Amino acid sequence: MKIGIPKEGRAGERRVAATPESTKALIEMGFEVCVAQNAGSLASFPDASFEAAGAQIVDQAQAWACDLVLQVNPPSVAEIAQMREGGSLISLLRPAQNEALLEALMAKKATALALDQIPRITRAQKMDVLSSMGNIAGYRAVIEASQHYGGFFGGQMTAAGKSAPAKVLVIGAGVAGLSALGAARGLGATVYAFDVRASAKEQVESLGGRFLTVEIEESGETAGGYAKTMSKEFIDAEMALFREHAPTTDVVITTALIPGRAAPKLWLADMLTLMKPGSVVVDLAAEQGGNCEGTVAGEVVQVDGVNIVGYTDLVSRLPTIASRFFAKNVQNLISELGGAEGWHIDHEDEAVRGALAVEAGELRFPAPKIERPPPPVVAPPAEVIAPEPKPESGLGRWIGSAVFVSVFAAIGMLAPIEFVQHFSVFVLSCFVGWQLIWNVNHALHTPLMAVTNAISGIILVGGILQTGRGESITAMPVILGAVAILLASINVVGGFLVTHRMLAMFRRGN
Ligand code: NAI
Repeated sequence: MKIGIPKEGRAGERRVAATPESTKALIEMGFEVCVAQNAGSLASFPDASFEAAGAQIVDQAQAWACDLVLQVNPPSVAEIAQMREGGSLISLLRPAQNEALLEALMAKKATALALDQIPRITRAQKMDVLSSMGNIAGYRAVIEASQHYGGFFGGQMTAAGKSAPAKVLVIGAGVAGLSALGAARGLGATVYAFDVRASAKEQVESLGGRFLTVEIEESGETAGGYAKTMSKEFIDAEMALFREHAPTTDVVITTALIPGRAAPKLWLADMLTLMKPGSVVVDLAAEQGGNCEGTVAGEVVQVDGVNIVGYTDLVSRLPTIASRFFAKNVQNLISELGGAEGWHIDHEDEAVRGALAVEAGELRFPAPKIERPPPPVVAPPAEVIAPEPKPESGLGRWIGSAVFVSVFAAIGMLAPIEFVQHFSVFVLSCFVGWQLIWNVNHALHTPLMAVTNAISGIILVGGILQTGRGESITAMPVILGAVAILLASINVVGGFLVTHRMLAMFRRGN
């Protein structure tokens, strides 16, 4: 089976859908790889690097005529015309907006997988092109902002004067927003972020941002974790919050997106007026109509002295890393599809089913939901009548305490002083250990285990010293030392086994 990598047809695109590294992996999966001349040169992958990886350099028409074509952008109808009948295509497709493209693919009896339709589920993360590109776009947005901002991002104190850190506001703390937040923090800016999803707060704070909130309590999340359209009251409160911050904010980065909808307008003309001249707005949603009033897609414009950056090719401005991430996502999808030998479309695979736009000329978009059998109906358990709690008798507790105190008093009076000292340390250790384990949150038990392993190490040394004193094997210190060695060893070995199992749960493929 031949894979073709044509040069991207979209003007200004610098990315390529395969790299020498992914070419090698595809050849190992049993494919032949044909790369069009100069397909990767703008991403710093010259033809020679593809040849060295085992690819064949062909002309554009030959690349399009392969069994499976890999592209970054949705191809044009003219490009689809060059595909062979019954061929396959993997690329971004935006099928909802590209009806003519779907028709051209159907006419070719093609099979096409739209990378932009891969669901954002944990299992499909390795193929999630939108996330890997969003991450790059967020970073690049900060670089573009710094290019158009006339000051430092980090604070400075010099003999020539001081400058406070820039104040950056990120609207929409999804993949691109969080990446922008991290990059702006890295440059030393003070970063505020707002999102309708309350779950974004923790992520914002973990990256050193300050999460802004409005008074109104309304969930901004669907059951699937995506953003939803908010009520008018909520948006009004959000607007009031932004107006409050506009005069002191130097850079705004807008990334707000509700899947399947036009970009919500969130940074309005009056907020631009409130901003200081020289401030910057980078609008990542420019291609979907923009989050900011005044954005012009693909351009930088000035409104009331504020620079509005509306580039729609932020990812393509970092072509080498973007191509590497894109190619790796595609390689993972091809592996999911069975490679050259096991190539098949698995309709039960949620990621493949979501991405499938056209199959052998048949329209498959939008992907129908996988019908799962309803969960078995479990009869509600018969009502259990809880016995009346017995009033706690204080007598038992009194007797217990009295016995406890008497034993301690007897030991104190009768036992030799050396024993009493050791015994007190033992009792205190038991008490402290019990309190420590009992009161520590479950989430912290793994680090706690590491600490107890260290303590067990001390016990092991103590035990070895006791058993090695040359006394008879039946002497009490030797027996106690042996017991201590046994218990501490169980704790150390058990601790390692449990930690190993927990780590294995985080490893891919487990
Ligand atoms: P995402 O879905 O991960 O994040 C969008 C975030 O916006 C979500 O967290 C959502 O809760 C939030 N949001 C929705 N409505 C909001 C509101 N009213 N107020 C505040 N937050 C709101 O999407 P991702 O991957 O981060 O992409 C963000 C945007 O960047 C998209 O519009 C995407 O098309 C664009 N993009 C632009 C590129 C460019 O070159 N200009 C390149 C890559 C992505």
